[in-house]
Amino acid sequence: MTEAKFILEVDTLNKSYGDNTILKGVSLTLEEGEIKVLIGPSGGGKSTLLQCINCLVAPDSGTISMHGKEINLKNKKDLYQLRQRVGMIFQEFNLFDHLTALDNVTIALRKVRRMDKGAANKRAMFELEQVGLGDKIELYPAQLSGGQKQRVAIARALAMDPEVLLLDEPTSALDPELVGEVISVIKALAAKGMTMIMATHQISLIAGLARNVLFMENGIIQEQGSPKELLGAGKKTRTQGFCDRLSDLDGEGS
Ligand SMILES: Nc1ncnc2c1ncn2[C@@H]1O[C@H](COP(=O)(O)OP(=O)(O)O)[C@@H](O)[C@H]1O
Ligand SMILES: [Mg+2]
Repeated sequence: MTEAKFILEVDTLNKSYGDNTILKGVSLTLEEGEIKVLIGPSGGGKSTLLQCINCLVAPDSGTISMHGKEINLKNKKDLYQLRQRVGMIFQEFNLFDHLTALDNVTIALRKVRRMDKGAANKRAMFELEQVGLGDKIELYPAQLSGGQKQRVAIARALAMDPEVLLLDEPTSALDPELVGEVISVIKALAAKGMTMIMATHQISLIAGLARNVLFMENGIIQEQGSPKELLGAGKKTRTQGFCDRLSDLDGEGS
């Protein structure tokens, strides 16, 4: 049996909310170790696309396949497996406020993976140390900075051994001085070969990490290509125009 070329294939996803069509036949593929970056104006459907990919939101039509096998989106077991294999990082962290950093990471290990407490704690400690929070494990989200909260969320996702990580503007809710610590963690993941799709407005992540950039607007992937193809010197692409406006806004052009 030959290995499927793509770890993830999304084919012709459509999604509407009432009369509002959010995704208009979006397709993409992801190879193992590939990083795709999703950019585009607010309201263009980036979050909806990421939520459909791990079925937090059910698409109206279209298919999602992993390793060449289509996920039956109506089958609970398939959905459960999909969510275990595809981790998600949200802009707003989505931690449990009543649980410590450690327990935010152990809870899924214990409830979903059925690990005993010792093993779950050990794994969670390892992941929290990886993101530089080994000394913060007993703190609650309210006692952590935004950057630390996002790093807990990343540790939580990694503890489940995802094959693909979806990141939805992971640095957008952070104060500017905290963006760097989360970017470092994401860069370290990239260096280890993690397969990712990330929506971001962070120019340094787009140019430095992406193998492919997808420019999404009005529910359609309007342009895609390597950072060089879309953002190289003198390129008159829509992606380039969008990034120019971004760097004008936040002054981080390089
Ligand atoms: N649960 C929802 N119910 C109704 N409309 C929604 C919902 N989620 C998103 N939308 C709408 O979908 C559009 C695309 O949103 P979103 O996917 O969040 O775009 P982006 O992440 O690119 O900013 C927006 O117009 C938004 O208002
Ligand atoms: Mg969004």
